[in-house]
Amino acid sequence: MSNVIILGAQWGDEGKGKVVDLFSERFDIVARYQGGHNAGHTVRVGDRKMVLKLVPSGILRPGKTAVIGNGVVIDPAALLEEITALEAAGVDVTGRLFVSNRAHVILPFHRMMERLSESRPDRAIGTTARGIGPCYEDKIARRGVRISDLIDADRFRAIYDSLVQDKEVLRVAFGLGEPPDWNAAREEYVRYGERIAPMVRDTALLLNESVRAGKRVLFEGAQGTMLDIDHGTYPFVTSSSAGAGGACTGTGMPPNRIDAILGVSKAYITRVGHGPFPTEDKGAAGERLREKGGEFGAVTGRPRRCGWFDVPLLRYTAMINGFDSLIITKLDVLDGLKEIPVCVGYKLCGKPAESMPATNEQIEALEPIYETLPGWTKPTAGTTRYEDLPAEARSYLAFLSEKTGVEAGAVSTGPDRSEMIIVPGSRFEKLMA
Ligand code: GDP
Ligand code: IMO
Ligand code: MG
Repeated sequence: MSNVIILGAQWGDEGKGKVVDLFSERFDIVARYQGGHNAGHTVRVGDRKMVLKLVPSGILRPGKTAVIGNGVVIDPAALLEEITALEAAGVDVTGRLFVSNRAHVILPFHRMMERLSESRPDRAIGTTARGIGPCYEDKIARRGVRISDLIDADRFRAIYDSLVQDKEVLRVAFGLGEPPDWNAAREEYVRYGERIAPMVRDTALLLNESVRAGKRVLFEGAQGTMLDIDHGTYPFVTSSSAGAGGACTGTGMPPNRIDAILGVSKAYITRVGHGPFPTEDKGAAGERLREKGGEFGAVTGRPRRCGWFDVPLLRYTAMINGFDSLIITKLDVLDGLKEIPVCVGYKLCGKPAESMPATNEQIEALEPIYETLPGWTKPTAGTTRYEDLPAEARSYLAFLSEKTGVEAGAVSTGPDRSEMIIVPGSRFEKLMA
């Protein structure tokens, strides 16, 4: 199988970083297609833990090429900081990391605009405060600054100055305090542009030529489908196309070059930030999931809200993305539970809900219908062979496959690269062969 998308099937933090790192061994190129440094993809190899934000997780595999596609929004300071951290950890990115000339640039006023919108208590989204949303706003409004502008100093200065004029009007109108030193910031960005320039390419061309030459591309999603700007719990979403469709628009790869789409899902579910969450457990059991699963944001450190596996939600994200297989992560976090609730349906106003409602008021009003499955006593943590899983854990996985209509083709049983099971006979096994 040549070109595969791996993306989040829930609200993000499903373990995409670990999964991409593991399977990138079988690909030549790993490409990010949307989001920015709001993402935090954790990769653990032995004692070493890396959190990738903008750079595709495949960079940790020597010899692999990493591409930041046109759909990503780039804070140049964050990118350069991440590269420095990678190099300090012995990961040489030279000649292996390429940045799209069409990707948009996060500028200092984007963070200012986000502080403004997030300060409205009735409208706050609970964002990562990285300037992601306002940067995409400028992109869609057709006034954004792209990497190709950033690396052309004179052009950049002209566009930047004109944008600052607009943002100054807003700063004054909304009483956002003293003006930052816009000129100093501009010159800082010019210097960032000089440092980034050697990595800049027409990455759509690079990817398409590579595919024509027989290379295999792994597309790494950020966030999750329920945070997708169109299909997620709008407005409590991120500002990009986190779903599988985003891989094509966000890299310039035609849809008919995609061979498989894999959804990453926890064996339970979490969410960071505000917004509806039908299976959230606000009690002691939810707290246990948070503690045992280490459910604290990789970017902001915020405690993640925790709850139970949500079948209708998964069926919805499987429909949107066309998952060929699911990779179920963090099964080990359920070790030791006597019983495990799974939401198998919703009721809305006393009647079965047939599909995912569009409004948050309706999603808030959903009543989850739970089935309770038996837990297991023998731990799954660290298990690498399917047949070594306790029978109840295998039944749990079979139940998720049956109810969601998508096979659980791989199962992660711990944060380390090695802690992964490929389910024998699965479609996933064939895809990765
Ligand atoms: P991502 O944003 O989807 O890449 O996920 P994050 O890195 O934000 O969060 C996933 C967290 O779970 C990280 O701390 C991983 O190291 C960890 N993790 C991934 N898979 C497993 C697993 O199977 N078991 C356990 N216990 N931890 C895991
Ligand atoms: P990864 O790739 C989980 C959430 C934020 C907030 C909403 C909008 O690590 O899975 P934004 O800063 O994007 O405008 O915030 O989206 N969010 C994430 N939640 N994982 C992520 O990324 C996220 N990136 C953004 O918490 O609710
Ligand atoms: Mg994350």
